Amino acid sequence: MAYLDHAATTPMLPQALDAYVRTARELGNASSLHASGRAARRTVEESRERIGEALGAKPSEVVFTGSGTEADNLAVKGLHWARRASGRNRLVTTAIEHHAVADAVAWLGDHEKADVTELPVDKLGRVDVEVLAELLDEHADAITVITCMWANNEVGTIQPVCEIAALAAPHGIPVHTDAVQAVGHTPVDFAACEADALTLSGHKLGGPTGTGALLLRRDTKLTPLLHGGGQEREIRSGTLDVPGIAALAEAVAHAVRTQEAESQRLAVLRDELVARVREAVPEAVYNGDPEHRLPGNAHFSFPGCEGDALLMLLDAAGVECATGSACSAGIAQPSHVLLAMGAGEDDARSSLRFTLGWSTTKADVDALAAALPEAVERARSAGLS
Ligand SMILES: Cc1ncc(COP(=O)(O)O)c(C=O)c1O
Repeated sequence: MAYLDHAATTPMLPQALDAYVRTARELGNASSLHASGRAARRTVEESRERIGEALGAKPSEVVFTGSGTEADNLAVKGLHWARRASGRNRLVTTAIEHHAVADAVAWLGDHEKADVTELPVDKLGRVDVEVLAELLDEHADAITVITCMWANNEVGTIQPVCEIAALAAPHGIPVHTDAVQAVGHTPVDFAACEADALTLSGHKLGGPTGTGALLLRRDTKLTPLLHGGGQEREIRSGTLDVPGIAALAEAVAHAVRTQEAESQRLAVLRDELVARVREAVPEAVYNGDPEHRLPGNAHFSFPGCEGDALLMLLDAAGVECATGSACSAGIAQPSHVLLAMGAGEDDARSSLRFTLGWSTTKADVDALAAALPEAVERARSAGLS
């Protein structure tokens, strides 16, 4: 099986798995005062330090959550609620967010009458900073929070998040960034960027599924979603998942330490994949930004093919990939990201995402190149339904 869907989830790193198993054997609630509890607390605090150190955050700025989705919801709703006031009820987002952000924003619009402004993107999938600058000139006082992802999960385009944060800072508007696809894949430095909140997720960088964190500046006000035992500075109540946190820290530390070399290795493999796809299917359209792009992402439209059909044909041939975002796969709708980039409905429905990760080798690229011509021919004869 050639697995080319690392942006959906990537295998756990052996050292993260070891940390998980080792810690799962130990007893202890990190809030208990006895020796077992103190040992669990020590593991949590050491993990917090490791994650902070890897990402340029203070340990106290790391808030553990149960997923990237939870951290996104916590940031978007929590920052909005904390700053909502009379005359201030506008959230600013982008047209290409993952559903974990986009649907949280839409929920605030539908259920709480928040005003929502979506920043457009260009045809490479990059957010238009000029539009934000104009918006800030006119409406800065009305804005509660700005949320813009660090890197897009479908086409891999890296966003000008730190530019956005620098524009927002003089107005005192908090900026959240969903960096789920970025951490461990491209340099991320929380201290150097003026963003106030940053989401990461364990299973996108070699840690366990169901782990995540929100990096949150100490002086940024946020209303919690969960109430209970008051863990995590009362920002995220719930008994801490000590093995998950230990494994997350191991994965973050490793992914960040090896990021530069691994990005170079993946970019070479990815460029070969792109060349081989173009050779096999000359009409294939390469989507996204060739320059500001995640090293492990290749995204194509195959004119005349239904993306879902092509995915199933490749799957039958032993090659696993994705159409649009994995979280919304199964729903036969064109990708909102490609539509925002100006693609027509047919192109948006005929696209496939190939994503590479730490376990990818040239054999995976070879398998795709071997399987693609027949799969495309068969998908094309089935046509666009
Ligand atoms: C950009 C982005 N944000 C958020 C998420 C959600 O993270 P999790 O799967 O940890 O809930 C994903 C997962 O696909 C993602 O790609």
